[in-house]
Amino acid sequence: MLKLDGINKIFNEGTPDEKNALDNINLHLAAGDFVTIIGSNGAGKSTMMNMISGALTPDFGSIVIDGNDLTRLPEHKRALHIGRVFQDPMAGTAPSMTIEENLAIAYSRNTKRGLRGGVDKKRREFFKQSLEKLHLNLENRLTAKVGLLSGGERQALSLLMATFTKPAILLLDEHTAALDPSRAELITKLTKELVEESNLTTLMVTHNMQQALDLGNRLIMMDKGQIILEVGAERKSALTIPDLMTEFEHIRGEKMNSDRALLG
Ligand SMILES: Nc1ncnc2c1ncn2[C@@H]1O[C@H](COP(=O)(O)OP(=O)(O)OP(=O)(O)O)[C@@H](O)[C@H]1O
Ligand SMILES: [Mg+2]
Repeated sequence: MLKLDGINKIFNEGTPDEKNALDNINLHLAAGDFVTIIGSNGAGKSTMMNMISGALTPDFGSIVIDGNDLTRLPEHKRALHIGRVFQDPMAGTAPSMTIEENLAIAYSRNTKRGLRGGVDKKRREFFKQSLEKLHLNLENRLTAKVGLLSGGERQALSLLMATFTKPAILLLDEHTAALDPSRAELITKLTKELVEESNLTTLMVTHNMQQALDLGNRLIMMDKGQIILEVGAERKSALTIPDLMTEFEHIRGEKMNSDRALLG
């Protein structure tokens, strides 16, 4: 389904700011895999997401989705295959447009059929049904400007916009980190429901180790541009936060800087 092979990315090569952000990343996902990703600041998590979405191009290596080599394909040409939600609730939606208009844009961007855009009766009904799944009463506010919604509501809408066209890959980059705990919990629950409903192949970055253990069937830990630990479905369900910290110490020979991870 998704194959990253030998991915390397060096920023500012040959300057004092040189940074090997990704160092030989190999990751293969089967259809329906839900991989949670943990790792300290600067480990390369977002850079890896940017490689998959096409926001960045690797220096070496290849990215294959469903047998198609997308390594050199620009971001807008991958949009059909990829749904993405960012940390910032402001990033995924257009504030001056209505809920309905935002959904129409996401719909037309991610489906071949909807290129003409616009909202007819049938599509409005589909949008309403989709919004009902969020249990936030947004289905009755189709013409409300998105800028008026709370951060949690906007993030729920972003999540819906990223998933309702059933992308081949869903990328979630700390998408609950900017929310208060109760809203974060709501978005986590919605994520689980929406991913399970369509059996979406998903990569989710989180600093919350408990969330990384609770969600998904696989887990990876990144550090200094490398994947240093991979946990498969069998082991993951029994894994605990202390296990993860012990593993890190074992691999790196130093304690994990876990302040943010534990607070997350
Ligand atoms: N466009 C860029 N130009 C130069 N350096 C960059 C660029 N993007 C990322 N980096 C550097 O690459 C490294 C990896 O960054 P990345 O954003 O992938 O980390 P991350 O694991 O997502 O961290 P965080 O948990 O803080 O979000 C960092 O040292 C970062 O400063
Ligand atoms: Mg990041």
